[in-house]
Amino acid sequence: MRTHYCGLIDEALVGQTVTLCGWVNTLRLQSHVAFVDLRDHEGIAQVVVERENTGAFAVAGEIGYEYCLRVTGTIRKRLSVNDKLKTGTVELVADTVEILNAAKDLPFALHEHPNEDMRMTYRYLDLRRPEMQRMMRTRIKLVQTLRRYLDARGFQDIETPILTKATPEGARDYLVPSRVHPGQFYALPQSPQLFKQILMMAGFDRYYQIARCFRDEDLRADRQPEFTQLDLEFAFVEEKDVQDFVEELIRHVFKEVQGVELNPTFPRMTWAEAMQRFGSDKPDLRIALELVDVADALKQVEFKVFAEPANDPAGRVAALRLPGGSTLTRKEIDQLTEYVAKYGAKGLAWLRIDDLSKGREGINSPVAKFLDDVALDAVLKATGAQSGDMVFVGAGKWKTVTDFMGALRLKVGKDRGLVENSWKPLWVTDFPMFEYDEEEQRFVALHHPFTAPKADDIGELRANAANAVSRGYDMVLNGAEIGGGSIRIHRPEMQSAVFELLGIGAEEAEMKFGFLLKALKFGAPPHGGLAFGIDRIAALMAGTESIRDVIAFPKTTSAQDLMTDAPSMVSDPQLKELHVRIAAADKLHG
Ligand code: AMO
Ligand code: AMP
Repeated sequence: MRTHYCGLIDEALVGQTVTLCGWVNTLRLQSHVAFVDLRDHEGIAQVVVERENTGAFAVAGEIGYEYCLRVTGTIRKRLSVNDKLKTGTVELVADTVEILNAAKDLPFALHEHPNEDMRMTYRYLDLRRPEMQRMMRTRIKLVQTLRRYLDARGFQDIETPILTKATPEGARDYLVPSRVHPGQFYALPQSPQLFKQILMMAGFDRYYQIARCFRDEDLRADRQPEFTQLDLEFAFVEEKDVQDFVEELIRHVFKEVQGVELNPTFPRMTWAEAMQRFGSDKPDLRIALELVDVADALKQVEFKVFAEPANDPAGRVAALRLPGGSTLTRKEIDQLTEYVAKYGAKGLAWLRIDDLSKGREGINSPVAKFLDDVALDAVLKATGAQSGDMVFVGAGKWKTVTDFMGALRLKVGKDRGLVENSWKPLWVTDFPMFEYDEEEQRFVALHHPFTAPKADDIGELRANAANAVSRGYDMVLNGAEIGGGSIRIHRPEMQSAVFELLGIGAEEAEMKFGFLLKALKFGAPPHGGLAFGIDRIAALMAGTESIRDVIAFPKTTSAQDLMTDAPSMVSDPQLKELHVRIAAADKLHG
């Protein structure tokens, strides 16, 4: 239908006859000439329709935005060059203009940033926008580059089932009712975790898959109910083997896709250090602010808000110095206090350092009066506060303070323009094996239940589960967890012991994971791996906050697809066939 792409015409074509196809991006109708900017996925070409060409000029009079056209004509040099366009030195003088399809009045103008619901409902229009085309292409190039790299290194791309048994990764399962087995359900995989482990036991040695994962969890900008992982598994490896390999892989894709050289080796930080210094297990190292523990300075003060957690081994009192922060207004401080309240903070103490040389007199703070000179001085020293700074102090339970002070660090870092324009990858290692779930009153796995403990000793693990460290590792980039993995348990006794510690009894373990426990008994090799979040890496590369921008057909934050209107009701006969009855059906039908 066409000879060239709109976005690729150039001066080498001057004088030649070409045919372009595309959409009407902009349209200017004048009495003697019509200008049509025609757009395809490569870019935009200016088409000129002159009045003398009566046939074409008449057609031009009928068209509107996003009409789909085919135009044939001659390329000529433009009199006034348009620097903003890649094709800005040339234009196409139309001989014929053919309307391939008309377009109704648009629900939104493509060059404006439409609202989210509109974008999702008319996703095909949203995706036509050059910005979306660019971001999707970044993802496509990323996936291509990953595949090429892995294929060249002997990794085997193996598909694993979508209709399967629950593979827990800490979210709820999406379930699919079975028609032929009344009352029974498949689960969609939260990840291919168990299958890839079993592939190692099956002797495949090096596996990868661009795998769709399904997790029914609360959605955010960086979470979708279905998302894509680059899933990897290696037999006969230790942490360093996996980490070195995938680090090189990430460096390679950043170089190929972004032209960016990442550090020759990524720094490693233990989970404990990350939580202590940055209040996060995925620290954004582009922000040069750090939390400082000041409990020691505040053990003796009378102010209970500080003294109690300072003296409690399960408490924490942490300070954050914001250089130049004395310019924050009371209103801004109140907003920050409200912000940290969302993370469970009962309050946020602050010290505005107007003039350090004046001692107490030079400090403006609602809490300074509760601190004696020694305590006040110790806090200032510990944080390295200078005149013109603001020092925030958070106190309470360790986890709460860590979370809200970590969130505060990010918030003020972003608000005050303290985010360095760079790429800061790192490994976070030495995660706790278990986290105590207060609500459920039991341990839950911090990674997943198949992650090996550092100390390969069942007795020791049982005796000291709360402090056990795992062989898990996460790769973090600019504050996003882009990948996570571990060395796995490869002995059945250890796997059973871990299930037991997670409150999964022998019977339940057999029912849910009997196949794994059995497979581990036939000479399972030591193995380990990792999975990258492709959507997250693509979003970082494309420079967008939301992974929705790099997924062609994403779901909304309430897990809907507004374009197809999924999820939706199904017919009664269909339900019956599946042996499913809807509770409170009347209510649902309205
Ligand atoms: P994990 O649960 O850490 O590990 O997932 C790996 C990576 O997948 C991405 N990710 C998500 N991306 C978008 N939306 C989501 N809802 C979502 N959840 C996770 C993150 C994360 O780092 N089986 C293990 C891997 C292993 O141990 O090898 C797993 O799934 O970037
Ligand atoms: P209150 O005693 O609740 O009136 O609080 C006195 C000051 O301490 C106020 O400035 C509060 O913002 C601050 N504050 C209260 N709770 C905390 C907390 N958990 N961490 C830090 N500061 C707090």
